[in-house]
Amino acid sequence: MADNSVSWRIFALTLWEPWYMMYLTLTLLPSTVRDIIHHGETNKPLDWSAFKNAWFAAVWAIFGPMFAEGGSSVVGPLMAKAKGVVLDIGPGAGDWVHLFKAEKEGKTGITKIYGVEPNTALHARLREKVKVAGLEDVYEIVAIGAQDLGTSGLSIERESIDTVVTVQSICSVSQPKVLVKELYEYLKPGGTWIMWEHVRTHETGWIRWYQALVNLFWPHFFHGCSLTRSTDEMIMHVGDWEHVEMNMPGGQNRYMPCPGMLGVFTKRSA
Ligand SMILES: C[S@@+](CC[C@H](N)C(=O)[O-])C[C@H]1O[C@@H](n2cnc3c(N)ncnc32)[C@H](O)[C@@H]1O
Repeated sequence: MADNSVSWRIFALTLWEPWYMMYLTLTLLPSTVRDIIHHGETNKPLDWSAFKNAWFAAVWAIFGPMFAEGGSSVVGPLMAKAKGVVLDIGPGAGDWVHLFKAEKEGKTGITKIYGVEPNTALHARLREKVKVAGLEDVYEIVAIGAQDLGTSGLSIERESIDTVVTVQSICSVSQPKVLVKELYEYLKPGGTWIMWEHVRTHETGWIRWYQALVNLFWPHFFHGCSLTRSTDEMIMHVGDWEHVEMNMPGGQNRYMPCPGMLGVFTKRSA
């Protein structure tokens, strides 16, 4: 549950935080441009999409490990439920992949993980994290958007996936409702969807308006990430779940523009 009683200092810091984060991403622009000029082929016209990917990769080198460090204790036990064939949607730079490791060494057995990450500027770090986690034999990085899984030549059938993992990724996809439905269809009956996503605030009144105000700017700094997506409700209502565990971990307060929700959803067995 979100904490309703916070000091004035925490209240002010909470509201200020997203603006500070956007400021920090701005400070990374000059070095991103410099890197592209130094390492890119300067005789080519500027590739806007490659530029945005490189900027986000620089941004996520700061925020990715920070969020993962803060969230691992609550997300770890959930990811420990992953088994069989896993779709890891938008793993970014792989800051959470070590959480798969314990499970692989345990008994329940992950047999394959598809890390579906379209931003190739993050792949080198993702590959390194996969190696450090000792997952090289099971983890395959797939350089596509999850919406293209059906046409990627990977021959992933509908109802063939044991576990779908979305950690801070549905916030960034362009057609969330369509994708959530598709991912549900990839899950086997009895399969599990593990979710850790920031969502549209459950508060009403001015906090909701404040989140919407921040969101006018936020996606431009964080590669399309939206703060006002009700991903929790989208997944909850996408199909027939036999079992649902959803909760907002402690340590969050009601003024947060990025409130996080945890969820484990089990698809009804046939
Ligand atoms: C906010 S980042 C989070 C990265 C990582 N999950 C983490 O928490 O560190 C969102 C990620 O989703 C990825 N993404 C965006 N659109 C996607 C899509 N259509 N399919 C799969 N991943 C996508 C982005 O490239 C990015 O790496």
